[in-house]
Amino acid sequence: MKKILSLFACLMMVVGLTACTNAEPADEKKTVNVGVSIYKFDDNFMTLYRQEIEKYFKSLNTDEVTYNVTVQDGKNDMAEQTNQIDNFIAQDYDVLIINLVQSTSAATIIDKCEAAETPCIFINREPSEEDMKKYEGMISYVGADARQSGKMQGELVAELDNKGDLSGDGILQYVMVVGDPENVDAKYRTQYSIEQYQEVSGNKVEKLDEQRGDWDQAKGQEIVANALTQYGDKIEAVFCNNDAMALGAAQAITAAGRTVGKDIYLVGVDALAEAVDLVSTDMMTGTVLNDHITQAHKAVDAAVSAVNGEKLSAYYWVDYVKVTPKNASQFK
Ligand code: GAL
Repeated sequence: MKKILSLFACLMMVVGLTACTNAEPADEKKTVNVGVSIYKFDDNFMTLYRQEIEKYFKSLNTDEVTYNVTVQDGKNDMAEQTNQIDNFIAQDYDVLIINLVQSTSAATIIDKCEAAETPCIFINREPSEEDMKKYEGMISYVGADARQSGKMQGELVAELDNKGDLSGDGILQYVMVVGDPENVDAKYRTQYSIEQYQEVSGNKVEKLDEQRGDWDQAKGQEIVANALTQYGDKIEAVFCNNDAMALGAAQAITAAGRTVGKDIYLVGVDALAEAVDLVSTDMMTGTVLNDHITQAHKAVDAAVSAVNGEKLSAYYWVDYVKVTPKNASQFK
């Protein structure tokens, strides 16, 4: 009888074990909650960027792990964005990817993440170097060095046969359309495009007008339309801190009866599809690829590493690339 009982006990143990092993795979499937907040959805470049973040996370889903990605619109309002981040943290999200509304709010956000032990990847709007020293190994910035894009814009004009100097007086008369200064990209592109133009061309420059267009196409159009009315043929080149504003500028230039490449030059940054089309048909002098695909992938890869307990580097950089009528077809 004892034998039968112990046999029965053994059998039960085996059944129990099998039940356990059978249940394991289902229990093992991990869900990683990712909170993404974009400074505002209504931005051409950041729309492509956030779509790529979602697409790339989807491609990383496996039988073992699901990335549950929530993307929110900061509506260009820091209070709104802080609220979103507070909610992500309160709901115990595993990692955050943040495109700040206000770069100067980075320290506050980092402190919140540190208190909750939540890793955070900043994208597109660079926090100060000092802020990036906080919460080491758990925060990161993924971006491109805007000085490089500014220099490339300057070269796009300086490398033209006539160096953009249509009147031949050795001075480039230009209009600058500036982005939102909350992103240091605006400052650096404004400064370095002109410095590099002078260095490469050997020409002098005369700034006819400089206005803030907040990365926005309609504002770019308005600013350049007004400048064309005021300065007319004196304007030889229009530098826009991004392509959305350059697309607006292109509309204003056509409306004023001017022709890019003949009696005016126009450059942007981002390499939006519409801008690359204009470059390849000589309706824009050039643009600079702001590689949202590589930036999105690096941001996601960093987020995944952090979730897996790896220590993050403070910075991950992506290069810009010059786009001219000659190589534009590669960027379509
Ligand atoms: C820049 C980009 C702009 C705009 C801005 C938002 O890098 O060139 O088009 O998206 O970021 O911060």
